[in-house]
Amino acid sequence: MDLLTRVADELDAVRRRSLDLLAPLPDHDLTRQISPIMSPLVWDLAHIGNYEELWLLRAVTGAPPIDESLDSIYDAFRHPRKNRPSLPLLGPADARRYIGEVRGRVLDSLERIPDGRLTDDAFVYGMVIQHEHQHGETMLATLQLMGDQAHRPVGEPAPPATAVVPMGEVFVPAGSFVMGTDEGWAYDNERPAHPRDVPGFWIDAAPVTNRQYLEFIDAGGYCEPRWWCDEGWAWRYEANAEHPLFWREEGGGAWSRVRFGWREEVPLAEPVQHVCWYEADAYARWAGKRLPTEAEWEKAAAGATSAQANLGQRHYRPAPVGAYPAGASTYGVHQLIGDVWEWTSSDFEPYPGFASFPYREYSEVFYGAGYKVLRGGSWATDPVVARPTFRNWDLPVRRQIFAGFRCAQDA
Ligand code: AVJ
Ligand code: FE
Repeated sequence: MDLLTRVADELDAVRRRSLDLLAPLPDHDLTRQISPIMSPLVWDLAHIGNYEELWLLRAVTGAPPIDESLDSIYDAFRHPRKNRPSLPLLGPADARRYIGEVRGRVLDSLERIPDGRLTDDAFVYGMVIQHEHQHGETMLATLQLMGDQAHRPVGEPAPPATAVVPMGEVFVPAGSFVMGTDEGWAYDNERPAHPRDVPGFWIDAAPVTNRQYLEFIDAGGYCEPRWWCDEGWAWRYEANAEHPLFWREEGGGAWSRVRFGWREEVPLAEPVQHVCWYEADAYARWAGKRLPTEAEWEKAAAGATSAQANLGQRHYRPAPVGAYPAGASTYGVHQLIGDVWEWTSSDFEPYPGFASFPYREYSEVFYGAGYKVLRGGSWATDPVVARPTFRNWDLPVRRQIFAGFRCAQDA
């Protein structure tokens, strides 16, 4: 398939997903603020279109703005999320019309794309496609924050665990590997590919499951300051956290969770999700281990394939550990790609030789600002985004994202 056909197909696929996700919601749920840490959903929707207009029409083809007043409203750096409901936002119908108009003009422009650095390997098209996918995952997290009120997206059942149950740890020997990538649609923060020396280490063969995490809860993990870093312990008190977000104790050792409007028993074999970095860090210390660095994570992921992984919003949940033996890395590490984003011990920092491209606000302004790196993508992440080199980042207090973790140990 040629690159332009791929671009047109991916643009179409991601737009269908965005519109389908929001279609069941009444206008009131699209325009209200579901959580102060999230945008109103109708802001995400029009922001997706404004980003596409800025890059694919104005930057690539030199087209004039459709409506200049939209740029400030949908600039993520101009207005913090909690202030977005008070902006003169396009309503749901106007937002859909606006993004449809942008898309129509983009498709017309595909016949004559000017040459240049932005369009090399169709980079800027890949950037806009991935941007919409990332906001799709953000919108899903917003939907999950509606709790009992959320509409219930129905996916295919997740595959069951196979006979191959990954257990314990896998040893990854010392040595240099190539970290990062120069492939066409990679973001600036993944570049350049560079050699990285990593001492030998052990890494969990699978993400930490709900069953394992419950042992930490039952052992009083949330009541023992010695497992937590200082900021983590302060967070745990402030947030009054005693278990993952969306869980509830039902008595007699039973736990339930809310998942998109359903309340269900906590599935013990699934990777734990909706824990923040501080919880992951505390669990690891309790287990006598630590979180992997992102270099360790990426080295361990050599040969992992996204063709055999829980990605792309097929199931709306993580799959049980052991469900994807064919997707394991060459070291035998399972479910690195998909299921849950995995917290690493690493701060979000540039690689040696980093150069901002095409704009500083994608990556550079977040370096060194206290963000932790997450790897591997979740069940909600599209395969277009879920490269083994892809770097996600968030604050160590965030729990609404579809994130869990696995542990590592020094050799
Ligand atoms: C890479 C997920 C941290 O959502 O803040 C969306 C992606 N950048 N619009 C974010 C992003 C601009 C970004 N993350
Ligand atoms: Fe954005």
